[in-house]
Amino acid sequence: MSGEAWIFGYGSLVWRPAFAFEERQPAYIEGWSRRFWQGSTDHRGVPDAPGRVVTLVRQPAARCVGLAYRVEPETRERIFADLDARERGGYAQHRERLHRADGGILAAEGLLYVATADNPNYLGPASLDAIASQVRASSGPSGSNVEYVLRLAESLRALDAVDDHVFELERRLRDGRKRGGKRCA
Ligand code: BEZ
Repeated sequence: MSGEAWIFGYGSLVWRPAFAFEERQPAYIEGWSRRFWQGSTDHRGVPDAPGRVVTLVRQPAARCVGLAYRVEPETRERIFADLDARERGGYAQHRERLHRADGGILAAEGLLYVATADNPNYLGPASLDAIASQVRASSGPSGSNVEYVLRLAESLRALDAVDDHVFELERRLRDGRKRGGKRCA
């Protein structure tokens, strides 16, 4: 393959791309929503106690904001192979048109990762309270599941993105921390 390549990050790739890139730009895709519906047994949880991480679900009128990374044509295959290995817990490559923040087209096709309902780690929908409980209880080789949610929320805020699903989960986790903290008499 040749030509420029773009990778769209909407989860941990927003704050930890872990690959060399030429350029990075805020971007969005249409028709998808970010959801904490994928189980993580290798990064933010373990096989007996999976954490919850984001995947994308189809929603016709939705937009999902993230970061797009332009990578060198010469290194794209190695980067894709490394990402495939990093995301081997149920994610598959997908390609979508990438839009700039102003609505223009950044790339006709960008690579992204989606965990669909047919993968073995898929957990699917749950109430935000149930998701928050599971996140609070989970951690894995990449760190705690709470840290994953808080870093994602902070990164999205830095992009001026609004994502109610992420921000509502963040609020529950932060409120829980305050309630659990020491109080002055
Ligand atoms: C991402 O940050 O875009 C991402 C989400 C899930 C799996 C792989 C990457």
